[in-house]
Order: sequence, then structure tokens, then C-alpha cells
Amino acid sequence: MALSEAAERIIRGRRATRAFLGDAVPEKTVRAVFELAGAAPSNSNVQPWRVEVVSGATKDRLADALVDADGEGRRTVDFPYSEAIYAPEHNQRRAAFGQALYGALGISRDARRTGDGGQVRDAREMLAAYNTASLRFYGAPHVALLFAPDSGDPRLTADVGMYAQTLLLAMRAHGVDSCPQALLSFYADTVRETLGVSGGKLLLGVAFGYADPAARVNAVSVGREPLEQTTRFHH
Ligand SMILES: Cc1cc2nc3c(=O)[nH]c(=O)nc-3n(C[C@H](O)[C@H](O)[C@H](O)COP(=O)(O)O)c2cc1C
Repeated sequence: MALSEAAERIIRGRRATRAFLGDAVPEKTVRAVFELAGAAPSNSNVQPWRVEVVSGATKDRLADALVDADGEGRRTVDFPYSEAIYAPEHNQRRAAFGQALYGALGISRDARRTGDGGQVRDAREMLAAYNTASLRFYGAPHVALLFAPDSGDPRLTADVGMYAQTLLLAMRAHGVDSCPQALLSFYADTVRETLGVSGGKLLLGVAFGYADPAARVNAVSVGREPLEQTTRFHH
């Protein structure tokens, strides 16, 4: 296969996976993936990322701690977030994405009630259940937490972004499915406490494992803007 064809398959074949099978990724594959991700470029080759890879009982403990923190309203962010960061065209794309995702989950505005095993739950309860599933990494057997340096400098944080995408593609190349989860960054203190991490700013979590092929949510496919919308070529 030509290299370009392989690249197309890896880059376009990666999707945010939001329902995983429980099967663990073999240790050897996990190590190979993170070894490969470390080849990511960074400004002056600083490699400012710190990564915690969490599996097994510790992953379960982390999920429990996140669900508890959420229930008690204990949210702590290292990178402040506000809806105001989005321009109108960003909000349009967010809305289209939300419609695709929540549509697949059966949580649409007019789908207020739906049957589930003989019990009827309303859309709000379904949303709460989905949020809890998110905090449990969508059932993934592993999660990686990506930290930027304490300074939180945007240039160094951008390097961590480079690492993140390299990681997602390395996973895809090894047949491993993933979901980047900014959601986890809203519980930075809980993550640090549970994992015994003292420094760094939590940018992103990445749930990973093998996609559940039967889950409707994994069929969600969101498009991209045409090239001309984002890119100009100068001659
Ligand atoms: C930085 C970043 C943070 C994200 N955070 C979340 C998240 O918290 N929860 C989630 O379900 N998906 C999250 N996603 C996945 C995006 O929704 C997804 O990448 C986007 O809709 C495009 O879909 P695709 O990845 O399937 O191509 C995140 C993606 C990125 C790059």
C-alpha cells in the first residue's frame, strides 16, 4: 500500500469512539503506541508533555473519584473555559455536532421520553447517564491523561496538542480506538490526587481501547468544512 493511502486510512479512519468493549489492549501494544507518540514534534524539541497511562483497578478508582467529584460539584480546571471563546461559525459547528451526537444517543429535544427495559426515562436522565458514562471513559479499559507544564504557556500547550494528535494516530495505526476527552480536564485536582501527580496542568484525557461495533453512538460521523473555508494558498 502506498504511504499516502496508509496515511488516508489512518487519519480518516480515526473517529471519536464513545462506547468501548471491556477488552484490554495488550501491554506490548500500549507500550508501542506511547513509544510512537513520543516521536511528536515540539518547538526546539522541548517535548513538554507529561503523560499518565491508567489501566486496571487504578482506572476504576479514577472513574469512581471523577463520578464522586462531579456529584459533589467539585470541578477544578487548569485551563479556564468559557463559551465566549467561540466565534459564531464555531458555534454553528458545535450545534451541528451536538445534533449528530445527541440524535444518535436518542437525546433530542422532541424525544423527551423513550423506553428502556420496560422503564421509561426522560431525556434529562439519559443525558445524566451519558455524562456519567463519559466520566467512566465510555467503558474504555484505559485512559491517558496529558499534562502541560505548570506555566500553561500557550506555545508549550500547543506542543502537547501536537503530541495528542500523534498519539491518536499512533493508536489508530495499531488498531486501537480512542476518544479525546476535554471533559476530564474539568476535574484536574481529582485526577492529580488519585494518581499522585504533583505538578503540571491537565489539558486532556484520552480514553482508549476497542470500539463496541454494536453501539449506535460509534456510527456518528461528523464532516469537515471545505478546504477553502480554512485554508488559503498564496503564490
Ligand atoms: C481537544 C479535544 C477535546 C475533546 N473533548 C471531548 C469530550 O470531552 N467528550 C467527547 O465525547 N468528545 C470530545 N472530543 C471529540 C470531538 O467531539 C471530536 O473529535 C469531533 O467532534 C470530531 O469528530 P471525530 O473525532 O469523530 O472526527 C474532543 C476532541 C478534541 C480534539
